[in-house]
Amino acid sequence: MGNRIKLGVIGDPIDHSLSPLIHAQFGEALGLEIDYKAFHVVKKDLDKFIKSFFADGGYGLNVTLPHKLNCVRSANILSSEVELLGAANTLSKNSNNQIIASSTDGMGLIRDCSDKNIEISNKRVLILGAGGASQSIIPAIARLKPAKLMVDNRSPGKIEHLLNKFSSFELETFEHNNEPIDLLINATSAALSGSFNWDIENQLNEETFFYDLSYGKASEKFFAWAGQFSKNRFDGTGMLISQAALSFQLWFDTFPDTSNIKLSNTDD
Ligand code: ATR
Repeated sequence: MGNRIKLGVIGDPIDHSLSPLIHAQFGEALGLEIDYKAFHVVKKDLDKFIKSFFADGGYGLNVTLPHKLNCVRSANILSSEVELLGAANTLSKNSNNQIIASSTDGMGLIRDCSDKNIEISNKRVLILGAGGASQSIIPAIARLKPAKLMVDNRSPGKIEHLLNKFSSFELETFEHNNEPIDLLINATSAALSGSFNWDIENQLNEETFFYDLSYGKASEKFFAWAGQFSKNRFDGTGMLISQAALSFQLWFDTFPDTSNIKLSNTDD
């Protein structure tokens, strides 16, 4: 029991995290004795928690809100993606006991899109939102060379910040016209505060793919709105599982089977 590999996820709040359930299934399928726990860590304890976790034999951590930016300061080595984003969701330790910060969010989305046959290369892609969630996926999408990669946001000022931050990529401010959008990604938290609506109806049609980075209940309003246009609607469940699998791969060098992951403890 005591020799199980110590892993976990840190956040505030953390109660509803599905990561322990997902990683337990990865470990079980691969015959690895892992002990993956959710830890409630507040901002003031973040650095101390991360360092003690690894000093006490911890093997790997996932990091969720609100710590994705600040956890980077506790790391000794940053992956190139983390250098670019300034944020991380996975921490691991090398043989010199140095803490490495990585980000699997963007690649998690790409992998899930690929699993669902959602094409990005040469397509017109619009991301709604300019906060942390939006930023975490922009480089991974841009590398696939969409025909256009556009961002729209309630507060236009924040788009300027994004364009500057990702100036090495061909990112554009969304402009209303009549060109259809192939893939629309919701990276806003708009649906949490009421019904979801975005004024771009004339550029959406039944061929448009709609993808929400949120999942489950948090995705219902976006889903309802998207349903007026197309049956091609996806919530972020697949991305959640894929980014977890990519973290798992960073720790164990093996990409786990993601096809039969249960997201509730019931057996149905
Ligand atoms: P996250 O880390 O989840 O991205 P965030 O950084 O707070 O969270 O960003 C939230 C995003 O949702 C922002 O793009 C925000 O728009 P603003 O920049 O204008 O604040 C967007 N958002 C939140 N509530 C919204 C609403 N009711 N309508 C439209 N956009 C909304």
